[in-house]
Amino acid sequence: MSGTESNLPVTIAGTGSYLPEKVVTNKDLESLVDTTDEWITTRTGIKARHMAAEGEHTSHMATKAAERALEQAGIAPEDLDLIIVATITPDTLTPATACYVQQNLGAFNAVAFDISAACSGFLYAMKISSRLISDGAFKNALIIGAEKLSSFINWEDRTTCVLFGDGAGAAVLRAAEEGEGSIIATDIGTDGRQTHLLNIPGGGSACPTTTENAGQRLATLAMLGKEVFKHAVTRMRDSANLVIERAGLKPEDIKLVIPHQANLRIIDAIADRLAVPNDRVFVNLHKYGNTSAAAIAIALDEAHREKKFERGDHIILVAFGAGLTWAAAAVKW
Ligand code: UT7
Repeated sequence: MSGTESNLPVTIAGTGSYLPEKVVTNKDLESLVDTTDEWITTRTGIKARHMAAEGEHTSHMATKAAERALEQAGIAPEDLDLIIVATITPDTLTPATACYVQQNLGAFNAVAFDISAACSGFLYAMKISSRLISDGAFKNALIIGAEKLSSFINWEDRTTCVLFGDGAGAAVLRAAEEGEGSIIATDIGTDGRQTHLLNIPGGGSACPTTTENAGQRLATLAMLGKEVFKHAVTRMRDSANLVIERAGLKPEDIKLVIPHQANLRIIDAIADRLAVPNDRVFVNLHKYGNTSAAAIAIALDEAHREKKFERGDHIILVAFGAGLTWAAAAVKW
């Protein structure tokens, strides 16, 4: 599903992020499973990840990221009319994590709901909310990517437990004013034929956790990494190229590419295929690992606060995840 935002232009008025305090290094994991810092670093680029404290939920992290984005945007919680949380690790199956965030912020004039599109979720939320603002249905939207993946990891499975981390990122969207940048083009896509490649098989209605199956830890992430890797490179390349073309940009016009932070080898392959030099590709996965829906949101906030791009610059956001899902956005800041 692709589109050029053609009605009211929509701008990103503020960004924010939050990482829980506890840091787990590759060295720490060496004492947990049969792995090495060397294997994790060379195969993924990850050196550390953050882990939520006991009692710290996805909604708590989402709220902290949201407060920072709202502050930067200069928008009060009561002026929000839309909150979308992208997550695969909700506080509860129902109600939506967005409802807890609405309560925490006191944003009681906002419609609030979650979307589940794994690592692409934040860009799905950007697409949905920007269309709703562009159409005039909503004025001020808060979109959040937030994950507590540590609750859905089998800490005895070395093929997955070294990859993921917890955290949250947020952005506030509203109609652009004169002279402000906007979201120029977006793309989102899904391939449901590949659901088996990356999933949390248990804990849902298909396979509820019971006393009989509890020991099998089915409510944890399972991934066929090599297969996912191949799809990730081609889908992200194609999605990014689509929005670049729709935005009428050339590689040299792009100030920064912010890709999903899953594996440095995937990021390098994407940079290569987009013909964008590595110094114009944002990487922070060495600090946080793969935070799924939060990854692009955290990276956008960090890159923004580190002034990696300025008013008038073009940036490309591109993500890929379970589903399989993928998404990209071309933004003039
Ligand atoms: O966010 C959603 C999107 N997700 C992704 O994009 C992830 C995509 N996939 C990947 O990033 C990579 O496939 C992984 C990082 C998950 C794995 O890297 P790989 O190069 O594909 O390794 P592999 O799975 O083929 O495993 C190679 C070897 C195996 O041993 P044998 O069979 O060759 O003896 C694994 O058992 O590495 C072994 N291995 C480990 N060794 C030490 C797997 N995990 C570990 C580990 N430490 N943590």
